[in-house]
Amino acid sequence: MSEEKIRILVADDEKAIRDGCQRVLSSRGYEIRLAENGSAAVDVLASERIDILLLDLKMPLMGGEEVLEIVRERYPEMPVIIITGHGTVDTAVECMKKGAYDFITKPFQVDPFLITVRRAADKRRLEDQARRFKEESEKNLYDLRLEKSRLRTIVQCMGNGVMVCNRKLEMVLHNPALMQLMEIQGEMQDPCSIREIIGDGTLCETLQKMLNTPGADEVVIQETAAGKKVLRAISAPLLGPERSVVGAVTVLEDITPFKQLDQMKNDFVHMVAHELRSPLVSIRQLNSVILQGLAGPIGEKQGDFINRGNKKIDGLLTLINELLDVAKIEAGQYVQRKVPIRIEKVLGEIFALIEPRAKEHHIDLSCSFKDMIPIYADPKSLEEILNNLITNAINYSPDGGRVRVTAAGLGEYVQILVEDTGVGIAPEELPKIFDKFYRVKHPKTRQVAGSGLGLAIVKGAVEAHHGSIDVESALDKGTTFRILLPAARGDIDQMTDAK
Ligand SMILES: Nc1ncnc2c1ncn2[C@@H]1O[C@H](COP(=O)(O)OP(=O)(O)O)[C@@H](O)[C@H]1O
Ligand SMILES: [Mg+2]
Repeated sequence: MSEEKIRILVADDEKAIRDGCQRVLSSRGYEIRLAENGSAAVDVLASERIDILLLDLKMPLMGGEEVLEIVRERYPEMPVIIITGHGTVDTAVECMKKGAYDFITKPFQVDPFLITVRRAADKRRLEDQARRFKEESEKNLYDLRLEKSRLRTIVQCMGNGVMVCNRKLEMVLHNPALMQLMEIQGEMQDPCSIREIIGDGTLCETLQKMLNTPGADEVVIQETAAGKKVLRAISAPLLGPERSVVGAVTVLEDITPFKQLDQMKNDFVHMVAHELRSPLVSIRQLNSVILQGLAGPIGEKQGDFINRGNKKIDGLLTLINELLDVAKIEAGQYVQRKVPIRIEKVLGEIFALIEPRAKEHHIDLSCSFKDMIPIYADPKSLEEILNNLITNAINYSPDGGRVRVTAAGLGEYVQILVEDTGVGIAPEELPKIFDKFYRVKHPKTRQVAGSGLGLAIVKGAVEAHHGSIDVESALDKGTTFRILLPAARGDIDQMTDAK
């Protein structure tokens, strides 16, 4: 209404008054409706919105008092200004008692008349504004309540455990699924200390760290145990004003069945691989005995056949070893024994083994070192990492190419680059090459034998050492793999020649 014009109904049987009011009020921006008796006024009120009523007391058909009564009952918020002659002032005062807003006496002067009307219009506007404000806040409150109850229902019905903690690491909200996951019987009253509910100290530490980090916005995913169950906990900070951390939410999911399945799969791969490896190794040994002539003389052709058979056996043994490595990585058992190691030494040994192969393909193989520092690593898996990358660089380079390995100490890390001038990898293939069994189909490398497990092992091994690996490549130009491995801290004097 505030944008619309104030609409005034003038109910008076005297035409001169009606016209006078209309003239004066229209020129002041009011919208005017006219009624020549009480009954006509009631009809107008019923048919359209009227904001203010100017009401004569003495009218035919229905007098002003009667109209006032109807208005009070049907439109209680409408200001009614009584128009009265000198003879009816007492009645006008009576009308005020019955709820009229004000009265003006005929014949009226323009200015006081306008002031009275303006006051009534202001009152109307203010009241309307207040009503709208009230309606809006009631609606907001309703929406808020609805949202709250909706959220509460969702949290209550969730299959995953939910707990919210405050800054004091006290649980202030939880759902029934949490009680089930934590195997807590009976009722639990919030707030209570999170440490009493979660046996696992690392999850408590994560939450404590989150609460102590101003502006924390990281979501932390970790595994935790509850009795015999393995749970996955996803925790996120709750931010208050100015990004202050006011609490944290943790959602817990039971992943025990997946863990068990994973374990079964790993056990199975392990078992099959072992069962295959032992007879293959025996056949390989027996073949060697035959090749050496220890089982009687053999001719050139037989020797050649046995050698070809041995190559196939070697390929199978490599595949089995890779499968076992993958199973170990996935079981988190790949890195067994970490010792301080000098990469230069490991690379030297790998080069000694691999150089003949590079020479065979006329590949220029070189390595260089700068500011080297030792790293803590499992010697066997470090060798596996470097061996895989260098073998790939040679395998996926055409004859006459160049493979360069550079290692350098970089603060807390040692960086190893394995660069080649080979066939390269297309950008859309790059995200997939670390997947298990993934091999890029390339006409120039079709003859290269492999399982597609090498880079999956490399990545798993690097990550098990808390390092990182990335790759850059351009088709037909070459590829560079870059590894960062954490340098050994602390007492380097303990360096062993362990390998
Ligand atoms: N240096 C490289 N240059 C070009 N392509 C590479 C290189 N290293 C790896 N690749 C691509 O990534 C794939 C996966 O490598 P990997 O996991 O070692 O498996 P495999 O060597 O057994 O095929 C390879 O098949 C090859 O297509
Ligand atoms: Mg490979």
